[in-house]
Amino acid sequence: MGLEETLRALELVGFRELYLSKKLSIKKEVGAVDEKASVLKKHFESFKDCKNCPLHENRTQVVFGDGNPRSKVVFVGEAPGEEEDKQGRPFVGRAGKYLNKKIEEVLGLKREEAYISNVCKCRPPGNRKPTPAEIKACFPYLKKEIEIIKPKVICCLGATAGEGILGKSLPITKVRGQTFPYPYDPKIKVLLMYHPAYILRNPRADTEFTEDMNYLSKLLGMA
Ligand code: URA
Repeated sequence: MGLEETLRALELVGFRELYLSKKLSIKKEVGAVDEKASVLKKHFESFKDCKNCPLHENRTQVVFGDGNPRSKVVFVGEAPGEEEDKQGRPFVGRAGKYLNKKIEEVLGLKREEAYISNVCKCRPPGNRKPTPAEIKACFPYLKKEIEIIKPKVICCLGATAGEGILGKSLPITKVRGQTFPYPYDPKIKVLLMYHPAYILRNPRADTEFTEDMNYLSKLLGMA
């Protein structure tokens, strides 16, 4: 084989290997997405009939987390409201519309590209705040979701979410915009923010919410 022919053959082999290794890594990525989604699905199946706390008595259904299993951020709210209880998806009411808008405007993401969940998966009657015992009973489900997703940041929307995730209650007006290590995996940052429903009641706090979303964008390496 002459030099030219050998070079051409080598080039072809190189391209073939490159092509195959690219194909393989794409396959691996797709595999990882499918795997996380199916592990999450199995996890949800495992507690759809949960009766570990009194909230099961009045719920229409358990409201699981929702969104992209490969999201770098997990938003955590308090508990489903009336609309969420009906539809079986978190943050689909007025507060959810505000949250979706901020995710789009500030992070440049569609809602379904992020992941949204709650510390309590069942609606408390009359939308009351879940009790510490209810938060404690439900937390293992969220903990497992986080273990599967492995986000970079957990974004707690409101004091109740902060209490569930960090295991202690903190004054949200003082700690919003601050991060804490996630107790079960300190590489994950926990960012505390106001709850979207609070902004609907106090529209001037939109400034702080936007500021904290911008900080989130920096933490995610998107800004
Ligand atoms: N408020 C929450 O905290 N969670 C929801 O899912 C909806 C409203």
